[in-house]
Amino acid sequence: MPEHRKFEQVTAKAHANIALIKYWGKRDEELFLPMNSSLSITLDKFYTETSVQFCGKLKKDVFIFNNNIADEAETTKVSNYLNQIRKMAGVERYAMVQSVNHVPTAAGFASSASGYAALASAAVRAIGLDIDQKKLTQVARIGSGSACRSIYGGFVEWTKGNLEDGSDCYAKQLENEDYWDLSILAIQLSAEEKSLSSRAGMKLTVDTSPYYEIWVKEAQKDLGTLKDALHHKDFEQLGQVTESNALKMHATTLGANPPHWYWEAGTISVMNQVRKLRDSGIPAYFTMDAGPNVFVLCQKKDQEVVEQTLLTLKEVQKIYVCQPGPGVSYLAK
Ligand code: ADP
Ligand code: DP6
Ligand code: CO
Repeated sequence: MPEHRKFEQVTAKAHANIALIKYWGKRDEELFLPMNSSLSITLDKFYTETSVQFCGKLKKDVFIFNNNIADEAETTKVSNYLNQIRKMAGVERYAMVQSVNHVPTAAGFASSASGYAALASAAVRAIGLDIDQKKLTQVARIGSGSACRSIYGGFVEWTKGNLEDGSDCYAKQLENEDYWDLSILAIQLSAEEKSLSSRAGMKLTVDTSPYYEIWVKEAQKDLGTLKDALHHKDFEQLGQVTESNALKMHATTLGANPPHWYWEAGTISVMNQVRKLRDSGIPAYFTMDAGPNVFVLCQKKDQEVVEQTLLTLKEVQKIYVCQPGPGVSYLAK
């Protein structure tokens, strides 16, 4: 590839996703190969926009994050990621990266998913790599595992694969965002950055939790049940398995050494309130990623009553009402 060609600035937009069957644990940390397959819904309200331009004049990568120059640790993370893309393309130029999160960062709202899906999509196109969507999910994966699922909209499965080189580990769309009228209420209890990142939390449980082995088996089973529920549009089955899978993931962290939990008091309040809603005949189910905030799933017809009920809890700061959202798109300049 001639280095004197013009490298355009490319801007990509990617949405975050909430896992119904969680990715929790890596079998290969370098290649981001997961221990278990996972399944998520892409969210319309949470997204990242990232611009990338490779430029011969730069002496190092520059990362502008939420309109500020990023600190050294964040810049190094992005730079190490771009090194892999530069290697794939055989290009040595540094890049100017600008990214804005329309999602709280590192709070358990999946900013690493939208963040790396947007960065991967913009960087690959800006450097002139011609790859298909499947390969793009694999490039996003090596930035943050959950990011591979954000390449697509709707309901997305990340297949763990079995090969050591990761070539059979990728994300695919099961159903698009118009398939099912579900509402996903993202209940904000805290927008603060978590003290233990998802990456460190899952490593701790893989290394030390006696429950970890059981988790892998259960996740495999839960995935089958969830795909069946999706196929039949059986909301109660989808909700039950989503809730149970999240609780099992969080249980592995309680068994870790040192023990860890991502929940706050408000997390439990929301969980209790969701159960009360169910007791009163409204099917609603919760799930939590690695953070205190809760996502509540319900059918669109019940969205208003679920939202109003949860807003009465004193720990609830804000509710983002989401529907299934789209995959990656490119923005015109
Ligand atoms: P979350 O629950 O938000 O996904 P994680 O612990 O998985 O939390 O990851 C948060 C990290 O992801 C941030 O500290 C940052 O390193 C990275 N990240 C988030 N958004 C972006 C972005 N837009 N561009 C690059 N990296 C990002
Ligand atoms: C609990 O994808 O954020 O949200 O691959 O180390 O970047 P890294 O971790 P990340 O982990 C997500 C964990 C989770 C579950 C999920 O999204 O599937
Ligand atoms: Co994350």
